[in-house]
Amino acid sequence: MLNPIEKASYAARQGVRVAWYMGHYFASQRFYKAKDETDIRRKRPRRNGPSMERMLQDMARLFERDLANADRGIYPLPRDHDGAPGRLVSTSRKYFADLPVSADRKAERRGKEVYSPELKDELPAYFLQNFHYQTGGYLTEESAELYDMQVEVLFSGTANAMRRQCLVPLADFMAGRDQRQVHLADIACGTGRFLRFVKQSWPRIKLTGCDLSQAYLAEAEAHLRPYRATLTPANAEQLPFEDASIDIVTSIYLFHEVPPKVRRIIAKEFARVLKPGGRLMFMDSLQRGDVEIYDGLLEMFPINFHEPYYATYTREDLAKIFADAGLVMVHSEPVFMSKLVVCDRPS
Ligand SMILES: C[S@@+](CC[C@H](N)C(=O)[O-])C[C@H]1O[C@@H](n2cnc3c(N)ncnc32)[C@H](O)[C@@H]1O
Repeated sequence: MLNPIEKASYAARQGVRVAWYMGHYFASQRFYKAKDETDIRRKRPRRNGPSMERMLQDMARLFERDLANADRGIYPLPRDHDGAPGRLVSTSRKYFADLPVSADRKAERRGKEVYSPELKDELPAYFLQNFHYQTGGYLTEESAELYDMQVEVLFSGTANAMRRQCLVPLADFMAGRDQRQVHLADIACGTGRFLRFVKQSWPRIKLTGCDLSQAYLAEAEAHLRPYRATLTPANAEQLPFEDASIDIVTSIYLFHEVPPKVRRIIAKEFARVLKPGGRLMFMDSLQRGDVEIYDGLLEMFPINFHEPYYATYTREDLAKIFADAGLVMVHSEPVFMSKLVVCDRPS
């Protein structure tokens, strides 16, 4: 049980985070609108998104849930690990320095700047894009350095709290197991935010993070210190694990960034590497109809950001994709703007 001071410090920290990242969001939006108003107006979605009041209520609910999980001992009192204030300010400066560049890219709809035929021999073509119109796509150190801030700005400081909700079915799975015997693989681990949360809860669990981006893996390595995890460059379509060798697979915010055909290949890879009785914890964006009032926002997202596969993702039948791969969906729920899905590989 947390004491009142711990609870108050959580509330204060999250309040400051939301103000910081939401402030960045509004500053960025004003900039983008100035550059891009005509195009956005032309493509306006059929439905409106949620009101600001509704979003703030949903954010408050997410934080209450995060705190309640810590209070019940499911995971320690969250530490977001944003870095020292000096580092935060320097990342913020770099973020704002990059904004005019990415706003130009967006105004001109240049979503494939990082594509080159030489890279195509090493990396899938769908990956070689400037997702979110970000500079360097997923390929550069600078992009890896800005990524966490960009995601938190997009979600107004709630991304970590959403990711942490995957720790709940993880705790459920770990009950009665020796963590030293459990191998968790986080696929498309990016900069390692989720891996760090796992290590904070389960310091002796065996962890592997895979990602196609060497630059993001390097950032993850720095971010994970002093914890130990194996970080491996790998394509989720061909995971570097033996059949039935992994206890838990996690995958956060990957499916909306890959084409439909690739989603199915990856789902089969998850099932192949999981041990019988193993578990998949999956998180990605909400899908259409999950929380109807958010549907307008889901329509707007791929217009605002370079997200070529997002619209198809929002219409996917995830239960069927995972069932066709040999997994059984045992849980699915909205988590603010994300969706948490849990699948088991039958014993
Ligand atoms: C939106 S980010 C999500 C990162 C992280 N899971 C998180 O919670 O922020 C998508 C990540 O997927 C990686 N990625 C995209 N396609 C991939 C693939 N086929 N195999 C492995 N990683 C991939 C990118 O490099 C990037 O790090």
